[in-house]
Amino acid sequence: MTQAPNPAAAVLSQDELKTLVGQAALKFVVPGEIVGVGTGSTVNKFIDALATIKDQIEGAVSSSVASTARLQALGIAVFDCNEVAELSVYIDGADEIDASGYMVKGGGAALTREKIVAAQSRRFVCIADESKLVPVLGKFPLPVEVIPMATQRLKRQFEGMGAQVTLRLKDAAPLVTDNGQHILDITGLQITDPLTFETQVSQWPGVVTVGVFAFQKAQVCLLGSASGVKTLNF
Ligand code: 5RP
Repeated sequence: MTQAPNPAAAVLSQDELKTLVGQAALKFVVPGEIVGVGTGSTVNKFIDALATIKDQIEGAVSSSVASTARLQALGIAVFDCNEVAELSVYIDGADEIDASGYMVKGGGAALTREKIVAAQSRRFVCIADESKLVPVLGKFPLPVEVIPMATQRLKRQFEGMGAQVTLRLKDAAPLVTDNGQHILDITGLQITDPLTFETQVSQWPGVVTVGVFAFQKAQVCLLGSASGVKTLNF
């Protein structure tokens, strides 16, 4: 692990730490190429930083309607996934990340498109503040995007594993994702074997995407901490 010293960081707020890692991620952007861009408040800081070098890149592939809007508002061209064969790098946040680079994602409901763009990228660079680093995945409610007609059966399946299940709401109605589906948030699980868990749950009929990113894990994590940006390599 390498660590860039930052004496001033001791007084930085969580928002400032997000800005710091968003800016630090610029060094992974390959000049002249298209960059994969995730979703969330940390990625928003990265998008703002990316705008300062927009003349040096061809554009971005985006993982959500929200990120697309932000990229385009800042003058960055957004390409469809199908127009691009492979990306050198995908930069995104996480809700949890462990010491192997396995993650829980989907707090912003964009997990399906995030996993698609990550799968198309050679390297996943995770940007997060230190609170996201955990010994075992599962404390953060695990998002699962589901086809609405399967909701009750999937709820029973997770409950059978000893978990508690909540249908995510927005404005008192089920939240509808960019893909027109719903999100279940699962608590009470300790995900000690992320690869097996992702394999198993991904096969349940009605699951669109489970928010465990084990097959699309991070290769690098830029972690904002009181002592600066730490770089974890997995
Ligand atoms: C969105 C995500 C985000 O990467 C995750 O929720 C972290 O977001 P933030 O940077 O706002 O903490 O998976 O679906």
